[in-house]
Amino acid sequence: MIVLEAGNDLGAFTAGLEKLAEHCVVGTRVVVLGRSNDVMLFRTLLRYGVSDYVPTLDNARPIVEAIARLLEDPNLAKLGRVIASIGAGGGAGSSIVAHNVAWCLAETFADDVALIDLDFAFGSADLDFNEEAPQSVAAAIEQRDRIDDQLLEQFYARRGDHLCLFTAPAGLDTDADLDPAAFDGLMNVIRRAMPFVVIDLPNRWAGWTRHILKSADEIIVTARPTLASLRNTKSLGEVLNAGRVADAPVRLVLNGIGGYGKSEIPAKDFEAAVAMKNAVRIGYDTSLFGDAGTKGQVVAEASKNHKISAQFRALAIAVSGRQVLEKAASRNTLGFMRLFKRG
Ligand SMILES: Nc1ncnc2c1ncn2[C@@H]1O[C@H](COP(=O)(O)OP(=O)(O)OP(=O)(O)O)[C@@H](O)[C@H]1O
Ligand SMILES: [Mg+2]
Repeated sequence: MIVLEAGNDLGAFTAGLEKLAEHCVVGTRVVVLGRSNDVMLFRTLLRYGVSDYVPTLDNARPIVEAIARLLEDPNLAKLGRVIASIGAGGGAGSSIVAHNVAWCLAETFADDVALIDLDFAFGSADLDFNEEAPQSVAAAIEQRDRIDDQLLEQFYARRGDHLCLFTAPAGLDTDADLDPAAFDGLMNVIRRAMPFVVIDLPNRWAGWTRHILKSADEIIVTARPTLASLRNTKSLGEVLNAGRVADAPVRLVLNGIGGYGKSEIPAKDFEAAVAMKNAVRIGYDTSLFGDAGTKGQVVAEASKNHKISAQFRALAIAVSGRQVLEKAASRNTLGFMRLFKRG
């Protein structure tokens, strides 16, 4: 890494940069310090291949931070990607979607996935997977300050090699109001330990659900193809997308298509009305979902070759932030595992 200080003569300085470039190996990073706080100068320097420009206005802190940023090991700093799932109405299928996506992430990437059921009173992750964590997620939040990577194991049930289930107390003893700061404390531990965190939110609009949604890397809204769901999806999309300037917009799962008779709104009209493109459209299929539930499995596990399982897999890949060469997946799972890239 080379740190340079720019003088007042920009022409002479950029000419000097060109000469310097002839002597630099690929990967050399150059930080320029200068007096001007001019964005045009910053852009000009970036065009010359400079990694960062730091105005030396009144203290050394920005310089230290710029250098630390460049020296940072991206793998060391990596925190788990957070995917939050919420329904645009009660019983829309948002838990089923969250559970299938979590299962598909674990299967596809063979990396640890935390599934956190935050529906304290009525959560269903334990039933859907027929597994219960030794201690509930409510207990984990309560004890967040003493939990380290090793203690964390006491708060989840492993399903298969990579899916870690943080199940809800599923009783009425625990108050369902969550302190966002307390939850963040637990999340800091989980995100350092696991590359993916899927949060199954109850159908509630409260300060803490809003906080979790706002800080998620990905948001999945599951809606029924009905008028009430349409109105709620539109409201959720408007509020949540407004804060997602650099992140992917809210993703829509239109669930139960074909199951609502005359009150059903056609998928394309629904999607146009809520201004959400590329919705995942899942058909209404009580026997498929019912049979999986009876086995204590999610659909993607119980009926691997079903079209709906492929849709859940595609959604999991979309929210993963990783790239996958799909062709290889159909030929050979092992080959496929080697072909994904971390985002
Ligand atoms: N496409 C579908 N076809 C048939 N049944 C479905 C479908 N999707 C979900 N279900 C069933 O609907 C029920 C409710 O699903 P789920 O618990 O995921 O809803 P939810 O949105 O999480 O509800 P809540 O508001 O209680 O959190 C489950 O029994 C599930 O099996
Ligand atoms: Mg639910």
